Amino acid sequence: MSRSKILLLGWMVLMVSTVGAFGVPGKEPAPEIKRSVFGKMPNGQTIDLYTLTNRNGMKVTITNYGGRVVSLYVPDRHGKLDDVVLGFDDLKGYLGNNPYFGAIIGRYANRIAKGEFTLDGVTYHLPINDGPNSLHGGPQGFDRQVWKPRELPGAHPALELTYLSKDGEEGYPGNLSVKVVYTLEEDNALRIDYMATTDKDTVINFTNHSYFNLAGQGNGDILKQVMMINADKFTPIDATLIPTGKLESVEGTPFDFRKPTVIGARINDDNQQLKYAHGYDDNWVLNRHGSGLSLAARASDPEFGRVLEVLTTEPGVQFYTGNFLDGTIHGKGGKVYGYRCAFTLETQHFPDSPNHPNFPSTELKPGQEYHQVTVFKFSTEK
Ligand code: GLA
Repeated sequence: MSRSKILLLGWMVLMVSTVGAFGVPGKEPAPEIKRSVFGKMPNGQTIDLYTLTNRNGMKVTITNYGGRVVSLYVPDRHGKLDDVVLGFDDLKGYLGNNPYFGAIIGRYANRIAKGEFTLDGVTYHLPINDGPNSLHGGPQGFDRQVWKPRELPGAHPALELTYLSKDGEEGYPGNLSVKVVYTLEEDNALRIDYMATTDKDTVINFTNHSYFNLAGQGNGDILKQVMMINADKFTPIDATLIPTGKLESVEGTPFDFRKPTVIGARINDDNQQLKYAHGYDDNWVLNRHGSGLSLAARASDPEFGRVLEVLTTEPGVQFYTGNFLDGTIHGKGGKVYGYRCAFTLETQHFPDSPNHPNFPSTELKPGQEYHQVTVFKFSTEK
């Protein structure tokens, strides 16, 4: 072989190995999912942390403890990545007291009045854990369970989490098989598919309880961030935050977010609804067309230019402004989580639906396949 052929061959071998190790020169690394150890449960069981990355700079970490979104790195208008959700650096933080940071909520997201509902003539009693009511599936809800993880690698890396909620768990009837799939899309969207089947009539309502701060977690309050909620109506609440059953127009109230409005603009208004919740903590009745994904809300941060759009198949969204955060929790990187330092957009069926026949039904029967989808899509604006 001539000297030039040997050189050419050598160069080709070098290129193939370089491309193999680092991807095509000039392109971002391929999307991937990686597993690491997040910590141990009190019984010694190891809990995992999964890191999903895409080609456009978005990175999400999710643990199979409570199916919690632990961190969510998205670029600002200058391409600088920051983590925009509250949470903890290790499992220990999540095992301690915390208000559902990043968790999958079930069996019933939001409140059921006095922890009671009647189905097929039987009255069920649920644990009371929020004043006189039952909140977010009870003290041992889905947020406190260990889910079975399965990696789904590919162009859109995904994590499948499954959990069998046994008949009678936290007071709810039926063996409920639940599957949640988190998928990181190329367009900086985190898609969440919720699926379930039951062997007895039951009621269900799932959501994800991520706390967002588009300026970065622990970086001040969210009062200057801007919110749009695609809803003409909301479900007003009583003093214990249970819906009265009415659907009321948002027109002329601090609940009108049909035009993008600064979150803090009316949050301290002299309004009984706001006073009950110490800020926003209400369910909006989404304007929907058809049964597919439709835009529920759009939030933006004028300082950093990050935008979050929430799309969902659900009929409602709970917009909560972190009114119960009080600086006692120290989260990731030692950040102090103070009053109103994050908001949630919990897509859902309406709170307390089993006690309001006029609300969309939350019943699931044997043979039916429950499937709801929510997408958190990030982008930037000038
Ligand atoms: C939901 C509720 C709030 C509060 C938080 C957790 O958003 O609607 O009232 O309980 O969860 O603190």
